[in-house]
Amino acid sequence: MLGGTVFLGREIAQVALRRGHSVTCLARGTAPAPDGARFVPGDRDQDAGLAGVTNRTWDAVIDVSRHPGQVRRAVRDLTTGRWVFVSTASVYADAARVEQGEDAAVLEPLDGDVMTGPDVYGNAKVACEDAVRAAAAPATVVRPGLIGGPGDRSARSGYWPWRFAHPSGDDVIVPDDPDQPCALIDVRDLADWIVTTAEDHLDGTFNVTGPTLPLAEALATAAQVGASSARTRPVPPQRLRELGVGSWMGPRSLPLWIDDPDSRGLATLDTTRARAAGLRTRPLAETLRDALAYEERRIDARPAGLTDDEERRVRAALDGT
Ligand SMILES: NC(=O)c1ccc[n+]([C@@H]2O[C@H](COP(=O)([O-])OP(=O)(O)OC[C@H]3O[C@@H](n4cnc5c(N)ncnc54)[C@H](OP(=O)(O)O)[C@@H]3O)[C@@H](O)[C@H]2O)c1
Repeated sequence: MLGGTVFLGREIAQVALRRGHSVTCLARGTAPAPDGARFVPGDRDQDAGLAGVTNRTWDAVIDVSRHPGQVRRAVRDLTTGRWVFVSTASVYADAARVEQGEDAAVLEPLDGDVMTGPDVYGNAKVACEDAVRAAAAPATVVRPGLIGGPGDRSARSGYWPWRFAHPSGDDVIVPDDPDQPCALIDVRDLADWIVTTAEDHLDGTFNVTGPTLPLAEALATAAQVGASSARTRPVPPQRLRELGVGSWMGPRSLPLWIDDPDSRGLATLDTTRARAAGLRTRPLAETLRDALAYEERRIDARPAGLTDDEERRVRAALDGT
């Protein structure tokens, strides 16, 4: 595992260990590797950063990087029977197009070694994919949509069940956009299937998301999971924008909401290939339940959603009080 110490990479390492594989994680050491994995320190921003793992032939190397330079150096320095690269649905050139398959056009590859910001995330991942496909060994390229569940530091999956479990008033502010498509894959299901791709030598590129469902259904599931007695208060998108409430992620946002109609296609990816190759996804309620348990243990500030004060201020502005 290049990475393997947080969220998805960590889950992949744990699945592989449970299945009896021996696992080595290379990272800088910000977080510990899972119990049972060997940890090798290394900084992939350094040209010789992989020196600790170049001394053998690996069965598979699984990489979660966002930086083309890091991936190119890995392909240059490591000897492996297989590459598995975790890319993203954000590689697609037309984010509005619905039900895209893996053959749909992708963005231009980033010209450079470093992903400098979210605006070039998709381009950087295209360049990473290209580097992995140019390697000597066969490659699996996995393009997940939104990933959620326990360990989701971004709070994109945990905000809603947490908010319904802890309302800041009589109602919960939600976007009045009930039919907007959304899709979420549980980190555990994704990790499970990624290990399978390595074991079963699945070559090629795969979209991997949970089933597409309307936003209203996802929020109703979150309300159920949060055992909420609060009713929802749907607010028109235009009004939310006026009140400075953003969509999708980050502070002062309503996660899962995709305000931009031109980005909604990415919540409808065609996952036929991955499902035919064994991908199984659990019910959304289970993902949200375990994301809620993670939120209840969280000690850092929640990086997405509305805080209690923010939600109260939005409610007061709507009520004119
Ligand atoms: N979250 C989503 O909804 C979503 C959706 C689609 C695709 N994805 C993709 O899914 C993957 C998520 O990966 P993840 O959950 O494992 O989180 P991540 O934040 O990508 O993990 C980064 C890992 O790499 C290590 N690392 C970072 N910089 C390094 C460096 N310079 N040298 C060596 N190691 C370094 C980190 O440990 P240290 O910091 O200790 O070095 C950590 O183990 C990413 O590829 C992301 O693009 C995510």
